[in-house]
Amino acid sequence: MTKTITIEGMMCGMCEAHVADAIRNAFSEVKKVTVSHKKGTAVISGATLPTNEELRKVIEATGYHFVSAVDETVGNERAAKPDYKNWVPKGMIYGFIAATVVSAALFFGLLILLKDSSQTLRIVVGIVTGLIFFACVMMVKWCLVAYNKFSYNGIRKLSKQIVEGTAWYATLPKDGTGLDVGCGSGALTIACAKRNPQARFIGIDRWGKEYASFSKDLCESNSVAEGVSNTEFRKGDATKLDFPDETFDAVVSNYVYHNIGGYDKQALLRETLRVLKKGGTFAIHDIMSKGRYGDMQKFVSELKAEGYEDVQLIPTDNGVFMSRLEATRLMLRGSTLLVGKK
Ligand SMILES: C[S@@+](CC[C@H](N)C(=O)[O-])C[C@H]1O[C@@H](n2cnc3c(N)ncnc32)[C@H](O)[C@@H]1O
Repeated sequence: MTKTITIEGMMCGMCEAHVADAIRNAFSEVKKVTVSHKKGTAVISGATLPTNEELRKVIEATGYHFVSAVDETVGNERAAKPDYKNWVPKGMIYGFIAATVVSAALFFGLLILLKDSSQTLRIVVGIVTGLIFFACVMMVKWCLVAYNKFSYNGIRKLSKQIVEGTAWYATLPKDGTGLDVGCGSGALTIACAKRNPQARFIGIDRWGKEYASFSKDLCESNSVAEGVSNTEFRKGDATKLDFPDETFDAVVSNYVYHNIGGYDKQALLRETLRVLKKGGTFAIHDIMSKGRYGDMQKFVSELKAEGYEDVQLIPTDNGVFMSRLEATRLMLRGSTLLVGKK
């Protein structure tokens, strides 16, 4: 087995040795440790490995910050690898690169064209086109950083960590059925199905133009590559789910509703909870900032008053899935898990 641990705060070779020694001393089952302060990672391997919580305690005791630990074993052991694509679509990156080139051409082109115009006009045009160019460069930079952090082939594997952390809350009875709203490339549906081999999981998505690389076919081929057969994928709309009330034993969703403009987010949550059976569990992860979702504490109180149990809002931007700094850089501040039982 192999795990990649992401650690913040290591500055030099001595820090690497400090972390490696702490891991070796605490866990005799770890046979190999490779620490890199430049990458901010420690890769550990052995026949069995410590849990993430055990690793967190040992790393934090050294004075460095434990960000995450991702199990690399599953993907490496299979011949055909799943391809979960990326939450930052490649089209978006190319779009911003093209906008950067165009805005640079505008900047220089207009300044040349206006060389005989008044200085005031040249300054105004220079500032406006310069700002557009700067904004485009910053967006390209953001896209590349986010792409690498989210990538299933990168070092950080943030998407994998979030998907697995959300799936952890999906527990189904034997022969039960779960629903993943906005399943994208199938990652969360498949993770839930893997955790619940005695049940099945349905993933729905509208597979629109904005996430052109996600599709029903991709979800199905990822399921096959993962060796999971208890999944099903259908086209559907989160704003109006095509299922009767109380159909599912569990409902999950990850980073979907904040993408749906023009809809009250609490009404979208209600639509998802509508199809959940009494006694069923839910785990919904999204950017639940007040500006987007309104007063979520009040929403939780309303659910509890209606008889929902164990309802909790778990902020995940404070070290659970990502550090504050990382959440801010990736524009994921406000990421929260809403979990409970109907
Ligand atoms: C950031 S991706 C997340 C995908 C997936 N949940 C995951 O964790 O990998 C957002 C997904 O929401 C889907 N989506 C957006 N609006 C939707 C809607 N109205 N109904 C269903 N899916 C929607 C998009 O197609 C996209 O696949």
